[in-house]
Amino acid sequence: MNQNLINLSSDSQIIGEGFFCTCYLHPEDNSICIKLPTTHKKARKRQKADEAYYRKLHKTKADLTYISDYLGSCQTSLGPGHLYQYIKDKNGKTSKTLNHYIANYPQKTEELCSHLAKLGHYLLENYILVSDLHGNNIVFQHLSENSKKLMIVDGIGDRVIFTAPNFFNSIKSDKIIRRWNKFIRRIQTDHPSASLPKEKLYLGNKALTDPKTVNRAY
Ligand SMILES: Nc1ncnc2c1ncn2[C@@H]1O[C@H](COP(=O)(O)OP(=O)(O)OP(=O)(O)O)[C@@H](O)[C@H]1O
Ligand SMILES: [Mg+2]
Repeated sequence: MNQNLINLSSDSQIIGEGFFCTCYLHPEDNSICIKLPTTHKKARKRQKADEAYYRKLHKTKADLTYISDYLGSCQTSLGPGHLYQYIKDKNGKTSKTLNHYIANYPQKTEELCSHLAKLGHYLLENYILVSDLHGNNIVFQHLSENSKKLMIVDGIGDRVIFTAPNFFNSIKSDKIIRRWNKFIRRIQTDHPSASLPKEKLYLGNKALTDPKTVNRAY
């Protein structure tokens, strides 16, 4: 826990908001953002699950190239918060979400898809589970014309943390594949006019991409 009280007020810059948290820019360090839980009844439970998963990733020194890192808890003038690596573009502005780009820049769909494919393989190769994969939990970071990447800013982890099967990599892989393929179908449903090369974006074998076998809730 970072002991110093961080001064946040209603004037502090809000980076984004979701059901479970409001995300502020750190007033003294523009590489960090602070997430404050909302009053949603599951906000605390979710944060605990996220922290537990980050602890596991830190312990195993997992590759976090495509994930906004968790930097610990803190106290703010608006209550307890959590520090995360702030994902911003070269111009210093908050990187915009995947949904934003798919909805507003159809000409970028092909480029985005090559980054999506990279992200899917990264998760699979590193056995990283994302329980809440959607287009607002991923941002497209522009560091330069030749250096762009999708970054996951929320929703990583497994809501079922202590079940024995998760210790086995093959079971983890199946879960990662199912969640990923469900996510790809969801992007297509949410953005019907975007023509995604879904076959190229799906992970795993054909059986795992069949909606009848993957609609189970994980
Ligand atoms: N580390 C970050 N860097 C840049 N932007 C971020 C970061 N974290 C969150 N955001 C932005 O803030 C928004 C809300 O944050 P976040 O997704 O963590 O909230 P949430 O309440 O947990 O979301 P949800 O409702 O999806 O569960 C994100 O959609 C994203 O646009
Ligand atoms: Mg979110």
